[in-house]
Amino acid sequence: MFEVQYNDINNFDLHKILLEHGLIVIRNACLEVDDFEELTNKMGKSLVTTKHVLNKARTIQELSNKGLFSNGDVGWHNDWSYGRGNYFGTILHNVKNGHLSPTWFCDTSNAPKDLKNIYKNSIGKYYPPADLHNLCFTEKQLALLKKQKITRPFITNHHITGEEILYCSINTIQENKVDLKPFENWIEENAYMHNWQDNDVLIWDNLKMIHKRVAFEGERLLWRTQFII
Ligand SMILES: [Fe+2]
Repeated sequence: MFEVQYNDINNFDLHKILLEHGLIVIRNACLEVDDFEELTNKMGKSLVTTKHVLNKARTIQELSNKGLFSNGDVGWHNDWSYGRGNYFGTILHNVKNGHLSPTWFCDTSNAPKDLKNIYKNSIGKYYPPADLHNLCFTEKQLALLKKQKITRPFITNHHITGEEILYCSINTIQENKVDLKPFENWIEENAYMHNWQDNDVLIWDNLKMIHKRVAFEGERLLWRTQFII
C-alpha cells in the first residue's frame, strides 16, 4: 500500500506506483465530480456505464446503501472479474460515511508457492452473482456478460508487470468444483483492513488486490470509476 496526500499527487507517477504497490491511498481529497473525473482521466481510459452514473461521460458511478451493492456483505472478489478488456483499475472516493464499513484488501501476487501449486491447473468461470443483477446491471449488459463466458486461470501473469498472481474472485466464480478454503484462509490471514477516513480516495489493481466489505447500517456514499490498466 502506498499513501499520499491529495496536495502531493502531482509529484508522483500514480500509474507507476499502482503497478508497483497494487493499492494507493490518497488522503484529504475533497473533490467535486469534475475533480474526480480529472483524477480518473490521469489513470487510464474509463469504463462507460449505465446505472447510477453522475457525469456526462457516464464514467463515474454512485455507490450507496440505497443503490449499487446496497448495505449487505460483499464477499472476497476482484472487480471486473466477469468483464472483457483490462478495466482492472478501480478508483473509489469516500464522499460520505465510508467509515461505516472498512474495506479489506489482500495482494494475491504474494501468495506462497505451495498455495499456488494447489490451484495450478484450475480455471475460473465468471459471471455477476444473482443478488447484484438488478442493482448493478441492465438486461442488455447481463446478456452481453453471459455471452462473453469469461474464464481466467487461477495462476496468471500480470499483463504489464508479468508478476505471477493467484487469481480467484471467490464471490463471482461460477460452477466451481475446486476447494477454495485454503485460498480464503490465506487471504484472511494476510489482509489489510482499510478504515476509511473522510475524503479518502483509493486506487487499486484488481488483478492482484482481492477485496471485501461487510454489512453496515446507515447512509454511506462513494463514487467509483473502473479504468483500463
Ligand atoms: Fe469491489
